[in-house]
Amino acid sequence: MKSTRLNLLEETRFEKVAVSVYEDQYIASKAVAKRIAEIIQSKQKSGETTVLGLATGATPVNVYKELIRLHKEEGLSFKDVVTFNLDEYYPMKPDAEQSYVTFMNEKLFNHIDIDPENINIPDGTLKEEDVAKFCMEYEAKINSYGGLDFQVLGIGRTGHIGFNEPGSAPNSGTRMVTLNDLTRRDASKDFGGKENVPTKAITMGVGTIFKAREIVLMAWNEKKASIVKKAVEGEISSEVPATYLQLSSNVEFVLDKEAASQLTRFDTPWLVQDCDWTPQLIKKAVVWLAKELNKPILKLTEDDYNNNGMAQLATEKGPVYNINIDIFNKIQHTITGWPGGKPNADDSQRPERANPAKKNVIIFSPHPDDDVISMGGTFIRLADQGHNVHVAYQTSGNTAVWDEDVLRFMEFASDYSKALGLDASKLENLYSETRNIFSTKKPNQVDTEEVRTIKGLIRKGEAIAGARFAGLPDENIHFQNLPFYDRTKFSKNVSFEDDINETMELLRKVKPQQVFAAGDFADPHGTHKVCFDIIYQALKRIKADGDEWIKDCWLWLYRGAWHEFEIHEIEMAVPLSPQEVKRKRLAIFKHQSQKDLPVFPGDDAREFWVRAEERTSETARAYDALGLANYEAIEAFIKWEF
Ligand code: F6R
Repeated sequence: MKSTRLNLLEETRFEKVAVSVYEDQYIASKAVAKRIAEIIQSKQKSGETTVLGLATGATPVNVYKELIRLHKEEGLSFKDVVTFNLDEYYPMKPDAEQSYVTFMNEKLFNHIDIDPENINIPDGTLKEEDVAKFCMEYEAKINSYGGLDFQVLGIGRTGHIGFNEPGSAPNSGTRMVTLNDLTRRDASKDFGGKENVPTKAITMGVGTIFKAREIVLMAWNEKKASIVKKAVEGEISSEVPATYLQLSSNVEFVLDKEAASQLTRFDTPWLVQDCDWTPQLIKKAVVWLAKELNKPILKLTEDDYNNNGMAQLATEKGPVYNINIDIFNKIQHTITGWPGGKPNADDSQRPERANPAKKNVIIFSPHPDDDVISMGGTFIRLADQGHNVHVAYQTSGNTAVWDEDVLRFMEFASDYSKALGLDASKLENLYSETRNIFSTKKPNQVDTEEVRTIKGLIRKGEAIAGARFAGLPDENIHFQNLPFYDRTKFSKNVSFEDDINETMELLRKVKPQQVFAAGDFADPHGTHKVCFDIIYQALKRIKADGDEWIKDCWLWLYRGAWHEFEIHEIEMAVPLSPQEVKRKRLAIFKHQSQKDLPVFPGDDAREFWVRAEERTSETARAYDALGLANYEAIEAFIKWEF
């Protein structure tokens, strides 16, 4: 893992620190764990202690898993290892669920043979006036062991390392810090709301981290891609504390492909190397060039190509005007007002097939509102154009309803029972029990089954209203209530077999020619990804079973609640008129429990209907800027092979 800062490769010339990119985080984590094991074992041979600097968070979890495996299966011993954790929230009791002590015990220490005396984690229980002294002693203790041999780091979306938030000095030592708002938002899920996340933490300083003999910063997923780009390619600045790592020659960034995706060599490779110009890369480059120069595609010139790193493309595939026309046409052909295919039309240049003219369509919606938020306009169009449209709500979405709404609906149920002269005593008892539970409810406490049922029913009613508004008959509205959703509230290691089987059953009933699924993998809770994987598995298994209908089944992915496809990726663009945008908005409004202030808004302060409208109008503006027609809004899809 030792880096050599001398960068001799043209393709990495924008990178100011050593970077290794792995296929996925599991392979990368194994490599990091292997390096840690090597250091421990080589020091053990000469009777020395290894001093490790450790991090918490989602990033290092698989490194710790691999270290546990190496301990259990390959005899790696931690007897001569001393550890110092980067940080701890302040104030924080060590036995609290969210403490970094609990985290480290559960994820690593309880499963290895480390001497508890050798574990050091900043103390979140100190009196404020004792913190400074503690921090000095923490530094001194690290030094007394001869400093850190290896430091594991993650990176926060603010660019923090440890909890050294923007503004931290390069020579900062261990100290108390105030957490950045984005960091607290990112932690809010663990604490059941941002308001419960401590505002402070004790962290090793940048200077402390710097003294480590080897530093590995890991980052996984697309969510980290933009901060990774800043940390690796940006100017050194206190705005992004991770950029300080550029000053050290002992640092390596270990990334998965997604976290590395915005680095110049992957995002705009034509700027740093000769490329293999696949049709997809040409499309990406031309769209990029048009955007960079703020010009429509058909006005891009030979000089534009040559002056912006695309000379190789111009020479190999030019003249450039032909490339422009080809890409323009390709994008033009993504646009269709007939998302289910245009009957009796030549479909050779259309995203969807003309036949069968009336298709069986199933829209899978991970939560009860993703269908209308992300593809409400297309949903309405498909129904209006006479397709046999079904919608399947994959999960109940019962985590995302406020407790006050539960009480309101319970009051309604008992008042209505009484108004009809029915016995409401059971409902009233349940109501007072529920009120009691809510009055002492802890953040993140899982709801009782009764409460989950009511929350699920609230969302079910809203989903029915939305789907009816989009034009669906009741019998085409399916509530899958996939079991994984409640099960994962209690246990982390689950199989998805029953979810896949239920999905296969529904697919076999509908026999769709078109399946729409959420490809919004950035959903903060990961539910969308699980829901997608279930559909994907179900389709693959049906295909392997050889069902006849599956040969004509196409899978389309939509996005919208959390982020949008990039223009060059879009394979079907469905334009919406101003009236359709309004209709879509009304369909989203049916989801009253998610309006104004949803329980889980993610990072985006905008309401879901606003996000949907702004994203679709942004896509429309991007098409316009490329020189295509100027629409009010566009919903975007990509086709996915299975
Ligand atoms: C954790 C720490 C933080 C995290 C960073 C990334 O001890 O100091 O800097 O490494 O916030 O967090 P995850 O890994 O959860 O994305």
